[in-house]
Amino acid sequence: MLKVIFFLINLLIFIVGIQAARMVCYYDSASHIREGPAQVAPQDLEPALQFCQYLVYGYVGIDPENYQLRPANMELDVARNHYRTITNLRRNHPQLLILLSVGGDRDHFDQTLENPYLSVLESQAHRNTFVNSALTLLKNFDFDGLDLAWQFPKNHPVVVENKLKKAWKTFKSWFSGSKVVDEKAEEHKTQFATLVRELKDAFRSDGHILTLTMLPHVNANLFIDIPSVIPLVDFVNLGSFDFQTPERDPKVADHTAPIYEMFERDPTHNIDYQVQYWLNNSAPSNKINIGVPAYGRSWVMSRDSGITGYPPIERTEGPGPAGKQIRIPGLLSWPEICEKLQRDKELDGDDAPLRKVGDPRQRYGSYAYRSADDEGLYGLWVGYEEPSTAATKAGYVYAKGLGGVALFDLSLDDFRGQCAGEKYPILRSIKFKL
Ligand SMILES: *[C@@H]1O[C@H](CO)[C@@H](O)[C@H](O)[C@H]1NC(C)=O
Repeated sequence: MLKVIFFLINLLIFIVGIQAARMVCYYDSASHIREGPAQVAPQDLEPALQFCQYLVYGYVGIDPENYQLRPANMELDVARNHYRTITNLRRNHPQLLILLSVGGDRDHFDQTLENPYLSVLESQAHRNTFVNSALTLLKNFDFDGLDLAWQFPKNHPVVVENKLKKAWKTFKSWFSGSKVVDEKAEEHKTQFATLVRELKDAFRSDGHILTLTMLPHVNANLFIDIPSVIPLVDFVNLGSFDFQTPERDPKVADHTAPIYEMFERDPTHNIDYQVQYWLNNSAPSNKINIGVPAYGRSWVMSRDSGITGYPPIERTEGPGPAGKQIRIPGLLSWPEICEKLQRDKELDGDDAPLRKVGDPRQRYGSYAYRSADDEGLYGLWVGYEEPSTAATKAGYVYAKGLGGVALFDLSLDDFRGQCAGEKYPILRSIKFKL
């Protein structure tokens, strides 16, 4: 009898054990060379690491001349030994697996030349060079594995201006017949699967991990042979955010990373669709991680954008002004957004607080806005993630039995605890729910 009880307890522990979802933490090393309070030093990562199973170092690029991996920032990564500093973080966090990520939209190659992420696929010799350079880099700096955040050509944005509803009819028909993003997509799809197999073979003897990250707007249908690729990778992080961005869609502000399909929007622009697509194509649910951003996207509201703030917001005027810490137009980190929400109500103009609209139904995410004044000034609309919406996404992962969550990235979460005193509130709130 006792034996049976022990057996059942063990079984339970085993089941609970395998159900524990994965927490993948992206770290954009460019954050180490920011100036001011947004600069992330390695010791700033420490409070986060207890919550992460994987730390993904972003990013390494591909040298278009020879198809070897090329540090994105030679000075920092190699000369100042940052690769090593980061992999040494494992000393205090033995559970941590540290991956090096290739691409991630941070590898800026000359757009008039061929995309090295496609050319490297096209011959056995190129792929061999790539695989060997990857193996060397991982070994030299003691990384546990490689993440392929491959820079495939992206879907073109659909331009929807003003009369959104009218445009919808034509819009719908565009999904099937959208502009060709890559004439040789079929070949590249096969070749990418070959590259993944070759990497996997090369990594086997050292037990290196191999993962895939889908960047936003990269069409898996065009480039990923899921049944061939999925058994070879440890997991896939879906870039299930930035569906709407001020760069791609300067004239329409909208929720950037909804969980579910929104009325009269592109039906593929939500987490649920992206997840379902992979599951439908034979991906096991425990290999799928959903990407969650630690930031928001901002647009300038014009006088013609109305005063309700209810998205989609038409006639916006491109990216909102850069925040004081991250200093990137159209992108605000969680602490930057938090600060704008907490401002004194008496302030006006550019200092006036944003009005927050939460997401009680937990489907689309939060937004905050300030309509333009009579002169058309100071209008701003921000769609964003916050601890509570990130927790909802973690809840979705749990409910669907998915693999876990990938946070993009630690440097945009409130790593100093400026907002409410607690460091890494978004990361914590995800981890708490998983
Ligand atoms: C997944 O498959 C179901 C059932 O065949 C289908 O209704 C749904 O549209 C598919 N979803 C995606 C995203 O492919």
